[in-house]
Amino acid sequence: KVKGTVLFMQAPGTPTLIKGTITGLEPGLHGFHIHEFGDMSDGCKSMGGHYNPDGVDHGDLKQGHVGDLENVMADENGVAKFTITASRVDLIGERSVIGRGIVIHEDEDDLGKGGDAESLKTGNAGERLACGVIVVRENK
Ligand code: CU
Ligand code: ZN
Repeated sequence: KVKGTVLFMQAPGTPTLIKGTITGLEPGLHGFHIHEFGDMSDGCKSMGGHYNPDGVDHGDLKQGHVGDLENVMADENGVAKFTITASRVDLIGERSVIGRGIVIHEDEDDLGKGGDAESLKTGNAGERLACGVIVVRENK
C-alpha cells in the first residue's frame, strides 16, 4: 500500500534535488536511501545495500554512504512530501545513481548514531516498504 513518485534533478556542478510524495506510510520518520542495485527481481530485497562507492560507514547527507538520504516525515495521513538537497548524489558522470534503486523503510534511520553495528550499516531503518529503479525520463 506504500507508493509514490520521486523526481531527481541536477544541473551540472550543482547539488541534486530529490523531490517526492510517498503515501500509505505510518505517521513519523522513515529511512530513505539510494541502494546499490536497480534490481527488483526479488522485490526490494535484491537492491543490495546502500550505495557506498567510498566504502565508509552509514551516516547522513553530509557524511557516510552516498546513498544516505536520512529520513522523510509522514504526516498524520501517512503522506510524506519532501525536497532533499543531496550534494553528494550525482546524476552525471561515473558516480551517477541512474540505474540504482531508491528505498523507503519502515523505521526511522538513526543516521549511524545508534551505537550498534547495524547502525553503521543500515541505520536500523528496518524493513523495506517500497522501492523503485532510478531511470531517466524524457522531458516533454
Ligand atoms: Cu535503505
Ligand atoms: Zn547508509
